[in-house]
Amino acid sequence: MRVLVTGGAGYIGSVVTAALLAEGHEVTVLDDLSTGHADAVPVGARLVRASLHDSAPVLAEVRPEAVLHFAAKSLVGESQQAPELYWENNVGGSLALLEAMRAADCRRIVFSSTAATYGEPTEVPIPETAPTRPTNTYGASKLAVDTMLTSYAVAYDVAAVSLRYFNVGGAAFGRGERHATETHLIPIALQVAAGTRESLTVYGDDYPTPDGTCIRDYVHVTDLAAAHLLALPAPAPGEHRVYNLGSGSGFSVQEMVDAVREVTGHELPVVVGPRRAGDPARLVASSARIREDLGWQPVHTDLREIVGDAWTFAQQRG
Ligand code: UFG
Repeated sequence: MRVLVTGGAGYIGSVVTAALLAEGHEVTVLDDLSTGHADAVPVGARLVRASLHDSAPVLAEVRPEAVLHFAAKSLVGESQQAPELYWENNVGGSLALLEAMRAADCRRIVFSSTAATYGEPTEVPIPETAPTRPTNTYGASKLAVDTMLTSYAVAYDVAAVSLRYFNVGGAAFGRGERHATETHLIPIALQVAAGTRESLTVYGDDYPTPDGTCIRDYVHVTDLAAAHLLALPAPAPGEHRVYNLGSGSGFSVQEMVDAVREVTGHELPVVVGPRRAGDPARLVASSARIREDLGWQPVHTDLREIVGDAWTFAQQRG
């Protein structure tokens, strides 16, 4: 298939681009390189440096049969401080992309949505039928695009899938997390293990969980990439499917700290700090729907494998 990958110079977009190339797809990456890296785009894919707002000429030229849409701002804290960036890039940019697709008669899209669309969960594991009440602008902006996809599917016969990621980790195809502003637990813990950061602050140890620290559902980026390949051909024209992507089991921040210590062999100095605003105690996905519909099965569910692959990547980059 001829596909356009937006955000293909970022962490997850570059891994999925490599997976698409390995399956024989023809890939053009559209990325403005605001947070991505040109050298993360796999050899074999063409890179066009452009914003989503300027995507129309690119789609007119490439004439993709499908779009995989990763490009987005994705920092929860930033979304609270500068919400206009999220409405402009994530919502305005996605609308421009959907209009560019319409003009180029491209009617298939896989979209990177998020667990943050659910907000504070009312039931755990969280099914796709759970209420969507995002507690931050990042989640709200992703939910707005999910809603947009439903209406484009109905009005314009678009075949759409929203994949709601939980906590993605690990590395694949020599690609991993490389953020200038790092807020995620695994890369921060690995920076401490590597000695480039002094200590890890655990955001709260008084949550109602067995060890008092927050529980999250970590999914390996390799399993995430496999889900994209399964999702790509799945919906019929006019259909918008929503799937959660998590491994279905939860691990606490303390368990992650233990895994990082075990994998890296480094002592990991930890400081317990106050809770981070907006962090739910427990976020675990029910991914029963994608398992049943598409036969997706996460394989790399061992925390030590997720941490180990991220560690290998971090060390290779030095
Ligand atoms: N944490 C720490 N110390 C740190 C960083 C994180 O204790 O220095 C804790 C957090 O409080 C949380 C857990 O580690 O309990 C995971 O935090 P991350 O920031 O790695 O991930 P989040 O669960 O906050 O975020 C993930 C995705 C977001 C998405 C969010 C909502 O990365 O994009 O889930 O579901 F919005």
